Amino acid sequence: MSGFAPDELAAVVGAAHVLTDPDVTERYRTDWTGRRTGRADAVVRPRTTDEVSALLRCCGRAGVAVVVQGGNTGLVGGSVPAVEADGPVVILSTERMTEVGAVDTVEMCVGVQAGATVADVQRAAAAAGCHFGIDLASRDSATAGGIVATNAGGVHVVRHGSTRAQVLGIEAVLADGRVVRRWSPLRKDNVGYDLPGLLAGSEGTLAVITGVLFALGEPRGATAVAIIGCDTADRVFELVAAVRRGGLTVEAAELMTAAGIDLVVAAGARPALRSGPRFQVLIEASGADPADELATVLAAAGVDDAVVEAGPARDLWALRERHTETIAASSATVPVKLDVGIPHRDVDGFLAELEQLSADVGHPCRPVVFGHVADGNLHVNLLDVPDGEQAALAHRVLELVVARGGSVSAEHGIGRDKREWLPVVRDGADVDVMRAIKRAWDPAGQLNPGVLFP
Ligand code: FAD
Ligand code: MLT
Ligand code: ZN
Repeated sequence: MSGFAPDELAAVVGAAHVLTDPDVTERYRTDWTGRRTGRADAVVRPRTTDEVSALLRCCGRAGVAVVVQGGNTGLVGGSVPAVEADGPVVILSTERMTEVGAVDTVEMCVGVQAGATVADVQRAAAAAGCHFGIDLASRDSATAGGIVATNAGGVHVVRHGSTRAQVLGIEAVLADGRVVRRWSPLRKDNVGYDLPGLLAGSEGTLAVITGVLFALGEPRGATAVAIIGCDTADRVFELVAAVRRGGLTVEAAELMTAAGIDLVVAAGARPALRSGPRFQVLIEASGADPADELATVLAAAGVDDAVVEAGPARDLWALRERHTETIAASSATVPVKLDVGIPHRDVDGFLAELEQLSADVGHPCRPVVFGHVADGNLHVNLLDVPDGEQAALAHRVLELVVARGGSVSAEHGIGRDKREWLPVVRDGADVDVMRAIKRAWDPAGQLNPGVLFP
């Protein structure tokens, strides 16, 4: 490693937490999809904010780039170094920073270290009789720092908003080693720029998040889960509105297509409907007597192809939660994974265009679409696409999205995979301001070089 020897890192974190053997570091250098294996001179694993600060000062002096990594479940290539990183680079893993503070049931919040997983936060909240608003299928690995850095969404955005909406405070270390700490349970504190809000979605390019103060809510109470057969997305939106007008709270609304249901049922998930409708939508709702009320609302809305179960209805949720893993296992190539936002009125039109494009494209392309439909967020997975065709196909699909005023990344971020879209969907002044912010926070471009910006 040019610049400085690993022993300078070891002086900070201990030799056991500086990994340099390529066989050992491979799992850190390879992203969850398996698409990317980057180059890194070392993986360093600090325990405390002070150690992070010392590491960044050390790397800054030596001109060593730093890629921050939490659970390495990111899906846009932002959590691993470039394949051909030019110059020394280390991965700073927060996997040893897992402390979860005591839940404050008066201020309804909990402070955690960046490496604590979503499941850790959920468990701490539940044990104190509170509720953490973020849930996603990667909960056992995705970390507090990672979900803030990607402003992760998940299945309850429709009820609680994205991760940014759960962040009350943040502790982060700047590239020069200084520590910024905003750590107050106050729900209103308008003193200066919203630094926590800016770090949400920063994808490791502005600072290393070392701690997060999350807001917590009251427990949800009883829920019910319905799986409903539908033929259009417009019908799904009608049903979500009907459930709300029926006095229930919509906790989740997840669209699945027949192709995805076939995959997860073939992988062992219990089918919910005997029919094979074009779409199956999972709606989870809370209320006084949710199972009965939900069944009543759906019957009144003319639904005749549905099952309703009392929550948590894990078998019904398994139909949705097993999509990502079964898609990855089923595809002959690494699936093209697009995470798009589409205006409600355009979802059916977009899906029709996508089906047509997949049929006409002239090479293998098996679309499996699912996602957080009430947020307008669809996960477009294109399976079996030959490696040499993937970039052009992704581009054609994202052009359809942009033509409909959609988002090329609804919740996963830009990472390395979608950075060439930044100047397409954000105008000159917008990109200039973001670059100016990046220069102000990280003047040497040391943090996650190549992520977010072309
Ligand atoms: P990593 O993958 O380690 O890193 C992601 C990005 O955050 C990188 O740019 C990294 O540099 C940065 N980062 C990580 N930690 C820090 C830190 N401490 N400080 C600064 N930057 C940091 N995402 C959703 O939004 N919604 C979903 O429903 C969802 N479901 C998923 C289901 C599965 C099965 C899988 C595999 C992934 C899913 N994801 C989902 C994607 C992923 O879980 C999220 O992007 C998550 O936020 C990543 O967290 P992580 O700790 O794994 O971060
Ligand atoms: C999900 O909602 O399951 C995730 O965002 C993962 C994916 O897109 O595969
Ligand atoms: Zn998602």
